[in-house]
Amino acid sequence: MSITFIKADKLKQKPDKVFGFGKTFTDYMYVREFGPDGKWGEGTIRPFDAVELLPCSSVLHYGQAAFEGLKAYRNEKGEVRLFRARDNFMRMRGSCERLCIPPVDVDETYAALVELVKLERDWIPTERGTSLYIRPVVFADERSLGVHAAKRYKLIIMLSPSGAYYANGFAPVALKTEREYVRAVKGGTGAYKVVGNYAASILAGELAKAQGYDQVLWLDGVHRRYVEEVGAMNIFFMLDGKLITPALNGSILPGITRDSVIKLARESMGLSVEERPIDIAEVLDGARSGALTEVFGTGTAAVISPVDRIGDNGVDYIIGEKGKVGKVSAELFDALTALQTGRALDVFGWTQVICDR
Ligand code: PLP
Ligand code: COI
Repeated sequence: MSITFIKADKLKQKPDKVFGFGKTFTDYMYVREFGPDGKWGEGTIRPFDAVELLPCSSVLHYGQAAFEGLKAYRNEKGEVRLFRARDNFMRMRGSCERLCIPPVDVDETYAALVELVKLERDWIPTERGTSLYIRPVVFADERSLGVHAAKRYKLIIMLSPSGAYYANGFAPVALKTEREYVRAVKGGTGAYKVVGNYAASILAGELAKAQGYDQVLWLDGVHRRYVEEVGAMNIFFMLDGKLITPALNGSILPGITRDSVIKLARESMGLSVEERPIDIAEVLDGARSGALTEVFGTGTAAVISPVDRIGDNGVDYIIGEKGKVGKVSAELFDALTALQTGRALDVFGWTQVICDR
């Protein structure tokens, strides 16, 4: 696999400090196209800029598109680490298969990412809680209106120096259970990271925000009672001294942070972890009785995101002490970010140092 490099005429001014999520992009991106010859062509690293799409491009009409989210971290020593990057590309392959997109090769895409991140290493912030957010996206670019698997696609990897996903950083957020709309059903696309899932969730998210909540807590699409996940995170509950999270049931995204937290909690913190169906009534009962001591979401962008309030049918349930981060959430946040930045020894083999200055 060879990558052509197209040099930018002028490099951008790097920000002194990074805030927020996904607002600034680095100088370069990686682009690879799948053509009517039925093959992925060679990739290019080229200046981050607009890509040409005709108004009839099939992604705009039928949404055949999948994406990923992962991060690179740089520490004070200058070491740059990727975290479970191959797992993201494997999940992307699954998303592609679900949408009839010709899968992108995991090793080739990983190698391209390493090249791109090395080139852009000076963009990676080092301050605590910051990282380089990596957004690969693959989409159909058929230039006609028939509904069928396209014959042309584009894969793009863009890089965005980012701070905390939520405006308040590592402070608790509020969730609202969604009783009217559903995000996904088994047999649909909920277990894949495809763009339509997010389009389908925006209305409920906006309604929740208008009512003073940060995100939606989705319930299952059939019984409307089992907890699934949050808009951009998986969800965990500390209930009766055990850490529980919904079992992967075919309509929940198998989060890489979720998997990492389960292993860290079991193997490094000695917690008892259960993956099983969780009735929302059990969560609310736990909040009423005090058996529910902590709730947090997990995700690449959100890392560990404590939850101190759940609204359900107009009633607010406070978890733990309002505005305070729980002990388990704080410990997991520390353990995970220590691994990701190289402050702790990675006994799981999840990180790869891709440059050391
Ligand atoms: N669930 C949804 C719907 C998401 O968008 C994300 C974010 O990627 C997650 C869960 C968490 O997945 P991961 O930990 O792999 O980032
Ligand atoms: C991520 O955590 O990487 C995500 O993709 C969530 C995103 C939808 C903001």
